[in-house]
Order: sequence, then C-alpha cells, then structure tokens
Amino acid sequence: MINVLFVCLGNICRSPMAEAVFKHLVEEEGLGDQFHIDSVGTAGYHVGEPAHRGTRRVLADHGINSTSISRQINRRDLETADYIIAMDSSNLSDLQYASRGLATNDRLALLLDFAPGVSRQDVPDPYYSGNFEETYQLVDAGSRGLLAHIRKEQGL
Ligand code: 4NP
Repeated sequence: MINVLFVCLGNICRSPMAEAVFKHLVEEEGLGDQFHIDSVGTAGYHVGEPAHRGTRRVLADHGINSTSISRQINRRDLETADYIIAMDSSNLSDLQYASRGLATNDRLALLLDFAPGVSRQDVPDPYYSGNFEETYQLVDAGSRGLLAHIRKEQGL
C-alpha cells in the first residue's frame, strides 16, 4: 500500500478537499486497492468535526463525497506516510519541526509543487478567503500532478 497523507492547519478545509479529490482520481484510475489516503491538521482546533460546509459543497458540485473527520497529526503519521503533502509553506515548516529526528525530508512536499504551470506555492485557505472554488481548482491540479508523479515513481 502506498500511504499518502495530506496536511493543512485545521483539517477541515484544504486537506480534506485534497484527500477527497485524490481518492476520487485514484478510484477513476482503478488504483483504489493500492493506496491508503488520509488527511490531518497540524492544529487540533477542529478535532472530531466533518469537513467545512464550503468544502463539502464544492466537492459535491464536482461530484465528489467527503467522509473526513478532523484529527491532529501524530508521530505515527510521520513515521508511516510515504508521501506527506502540505497545503502551504507554513504547514511544511510545522511538519519539518514536528518530524525532527525522523527521516521525513524526502517524503515531505508541497501539493502545488506537482501542479504543472502553477507558479504559486501555497493553496489559499478558503477558511479566510471564502473562495472554495479557487481552492478546488488548485487542489485538483496538484492532485493530478501528484498522482502522475507517484505512478511514475512507483511504476504503477
Ligand atoms: P484548513 O483551514 O487549514 O484548510 O482546514 C483552517 C481551518 C480552521 C482554522 C484555520 C484554517 N482555524 O483557525 O480554526
């Protein structure tokens, strides 16, 4: 199993969106049984909550369901994930700090590093911007690029 973990701050807006979009793409490509896909937050503000209403609505608009319940990252996540995908550079630096002492550097990346033709680094946070569709478009581009990258790297 290839273990992919999406990470944002609260685990209610961006990373549950990426989890749902990436799961949908993996299913579409018939690879569902080869992946374990999850999302977490660096903070615990919303633990136990489903994805934000705006995230669930934009996903539904694109024919995608979300079953994510917010949880905070733990040491085991950092030890076991093959790909730890941060939504923004602040999440990335929090992850680098949280994983000190673990060999995570080559498993950590920003989602938009995989989005072809996208020059920005950070997925904008719709918790503040209110623009869930803009976030969806960037998450979709990053997720498609990430899946292509993993398929190539894993020979799938
Ligand atoms: P997320 O957005 O990291 O994309 O889930 C946020 C959700 C909640 C908060 C901040 C960002 N908050 O401060 O509660």
